Amino acid sequence: MLDEIGMTNFKAFSRQVVPLAPFTLLTGLNSSGKSTVLQSLGLLRQSYEAGLLDESDDSCGFLLNGEFVELGTGQDVRHNTYVRHRSNDVDDRIISLQVVAGGRSFEWSAEYGQEDDLLRLVPDSQQSTSPLPPELRPLFGRGFQYLKADRITPAVSYPRSHEAAVRRGFLGARGEHTVNFLRANQDSVVEAQGLRLPDAPSGNLLTLTDAWMQRLCPGVNLQVHGIDGTDSVRLSYGFGSTFTADNRYRPTNVGFGLTYALPIVVACLAAQPDSLILLENPEAHLHPQGQTWLAYLAVAAVGAGAQVIMETHSDHVLNGLRIAVKNNLVPAGRTAVHYFRRHELATEMVSPEMNSDGMLSDWPSGFFDEWENSLEQLLD
Ligand SMILES: Nc1ncnc2c1ncn2[C@@H]1O[C@H](COP(=O)(O)OP(=O)(O)OP(=O)(O)O)[C@@H](O)[C@H]1O
Ligand SMILES: [Mg+2]
Repeated sequence: MLDEIGMTNFKAFSRQVVPLAPFTLLTGLNSSGKSTVLQSLGLLRQSYEAGLLDESDDSCGFLLNGEFVELGTGQDVRHNTYVRHRSNDVDDRIISLQVVAGGRSFEWSAEYGQEDDLLRLVPDSQQSTSPLPPELRPLFGRGFQYLKADRITPAVSYPRSHEAAVRRGFLGARGEHTVNFLRANQDSVVEAQGLRLPDAPSGNLLTLTDAWMQRLCPGVNLQVHGIDGTDSVRLSYGFGSTFTADNRYRPTNVGFGLTYALPIVVACLAAQPDSLILLENPEAHLHPQGQTWLAYLAVAAVGAGAQVIMETHSDHVLNGLRIAVKNNLVPAGRTAVHYFRRHELATEMVSPEMNSDGMLSDWPSGFFDEWENSLEQLLD
C-alpha cells in the first residue's frame, strides 16, 4: 500500500504531502488540486511503463504526456511562482515526487526545462526500479487502474485490444478497454466475499457486474461479445429476466449513467491484493442512490485488498463511506478524507478524522455544507 504521496513544485502545489489510507477520499472546491494528486501518480506510472524511471539510464525522466496524463511541458507542470506562497526550502528548478510505501521512502527529482516534455531526472537522484521493489508494486504492478473524469460514453462498439485488456489487464484511462476486459474475463471467479452480492446467481465477473449495476438500475443485465471480422466488441443491455434478442438495447439507447459507471464497477470487481485504483469523480451521471452504492463497492474493493484513492464532489459517496464504517465494513482507521481549498493563491488541505460511528471530527467551511446553507435560506 502507498502510505503517502508528496509533491514539490508540482502544478498547484509548492510542497504538499498527502497521507494515504486503503480508502482515501479527496474532496474540495473546483480547481483546488484534487486531480493533481492523482496526476502525480499517473505521471510516475507512465514514466515507469516507458522505462524512464530506471536509474541505470541517464536519459530517464518524467514523461509528461502519455496514456494517463497529458500535462504539457515543463512550464505547465512547474508550480507557478507566487513568491509569497513558495516554501523557502523549495528549489525553483527542481520538480520532485515522493512516495512512501510499506515504510520505505522513494523520491524522484527532475530538472525544469520550460519547453521539455521529458523532464530529466537529476543525476544520482534516481531510485532503482529494476527489479521492482515490492513496496512499489501497487503503483507499478499489474493491478493499477486510473479512471479519469472524462470516460467512455455510450457507443455502438468499443476497441478490442488484446495488449491492453488481456495482457496488461488495463481498463484504459477513459475506461475504453472495459468492455473487452469484461468479454475476456467474464467467467473469472471473483474470490473476495465482500464483492459478492447475495442476490447474484454466481461469483463470476459478468454476473457480479450485473448485480452491482442493478444497484444503479434495477433489473439491468449486460452482454459482451466480439463483432465478427472486426477489432471491436459490443456491449448490450437487457432489462428484466428474459434474454431474448428483441429486448436487448445498444448503449446509445439506454442513457448515459450506466455506461459511464461501468468502468468504475469493473475496476472495483477486478480488485486484487496490491491493486491501486484511482477514481476521478466516479459519481458522474449517477442518481444519488447509485452514488452511495459506488462507495459501498469501493469499500468492498478495499476489503479485497486494493487501495482506492477517489476524487469526489458527492456527499452521497462520502456518506456511503461513513455508513460503511459505521456498519464495520471498513475500519475508520483504514480511511482518510482530505478536503482541498484555495487560500488566497495557495492550496491548503484539511483532513477531518472519522470515528467508528462514521462521524467526522471537523466540518470546515465549504466541506459538504451546501445542504445546510440551502436549508437555512429555505427556512428563513
Ligand atoms: N503550473 C501550475 N502552477 C500553479 N498552479 C497550477 C499549475 N497548473 C495548474 N495549477 C492550478 O491547479 C488547479 C487545478 O487543479 P486540479 O485539476 O487538481 O483541480 P481539481 O481540484 O481536480 O478540480 P475539479 O474539482 O474541477 O476536478 C487550478 O487552480 C490551477 O490554477
Ligand atoms: Mg479534478
